[in-house]
Amino acid sequence: MALLEIDGLTVTYASANGPLKAVRNINLSVDKGEVLGLVGESGSGKSTLVGALLMLLPTNARASGQLRYKGQNLLDLPGHAQRRLRGNGIATVSQDPFTALNPVITIGRQLLAFQHHQSGSKAEKMERARRMLERVGISDPPGRLRQYPHELSGGIRQRIAIAAALLTEPELLIADEPTTALDATTEMQVVEVLRRSRELVNGAIIFVTHDLHLVSTLCDKVAVMYAGEIVEAGPIQSIFDSPAHPYTQALMACDPERIETATRELPFIAGSVPMPSVDRVGCPFQPRCGMAFAPCSTLTPVDTVLDGSGWRVRCHKVNADA
Ligand SMILES: Nc1ncnc2c1ncn2[C@@H]1O[C@H](COP(=O)(O)OP(=O)(O)O)[C@@H](O)[C@H]1O
Ligand SMILES: [Mg+2]
Repeated sequence: MALLEIDGLTVTYASANGPLKAVRNINLSVDKGEVLGLVGESGSGKSTLVGALLMLLPTNARASGQLRYKGQNLLDLPGHAQRRLRGNGIATVSQDPFTALNPVITIGRQLLAFQHHQSGSKAEKMERARRMLERVGISDPPGRLRQYPHELSGGIRQRIAIAAALLTEPELLIADEPTTALDATTEMQVVEVLRRSRELVNGAIIFVTHDLHLVSTLCDKVAVMYAGEIVEAGPIQSIFDSPAHPYTQALMACDPERIETATRELPFIAGSVPMPSVDRVGCPFQPRCGMAFAPCSTLTPVDTVLDGSGWRVRCHKVNADA
């Protein structure tokens, strides 16, 4: 059984301009031991999917489908069971570490509080916190434990947020754009910490980013989101070697790491992401797609499984050629 199995997940927001379908009929599975990269442009629905996984969707959101974590549908759990799972099972590192850390409480006291589901004395938990800060590459852990978040740089705060999440001994760690607010050097340090976190997470990691290159350095599998849909998902190797969906192909062409000829201008995908209105038909990428043909504007594509590795793609063209 997969650790996480998402089956037909759809999330709709009520808004002043009518309902918005931010996540549409998503299917995805994550096994124990895997690191999954979730990539997509801003607005593609990544944080909405993460919100559903963390059982923290805003009150104007409605979710349908199945989100099975160790066999139980998270959408069906009562509130107290959801809260329990968040402190003890599913953990998160967000884009802004200030949301995870309380500004008026020392790092040490906060790292104790993160362990409230764990056994052990206060002294043992403080020692665990100190060791975890060491493991995420923080110098002078005893000094840090006495400091407040605002006394620390963004990169250090983000490592502390990772340490805090790891102290809950999660089986699913979800990092939603954890490096977006950091400069390039600090970003690589935080990615390195996440890479080393693999051994500390007795389960799986979902790493959310808009940076395909970061995914290739960290993840085993990738899921590409576009306008609320996972248009392609599968092992890193397959998707980086031979992307099947025209959108994935276009993203690959935009990745500066893969452009061989020196140029000052990066290629870009013409057009823009469609608004997530409810009554959309056809493929959302069709207006920007160089390979579109008749069905693409009238029929909504469904997932085509490409091989036994879990590689799947949502595209009429691929389906017709398969
Ligand atoms: N609380 C909300 N209410 C209404 N619409 C929302 C809300 N949160 C996000 N959205 C909309 O849902 C879509 C997906 O957003 P989001 O999940 O944040 O994407 P991403 O994380 O990929 O940038 C966007 O069109 C966004 O404007
Ligand atoms: Mg987001």
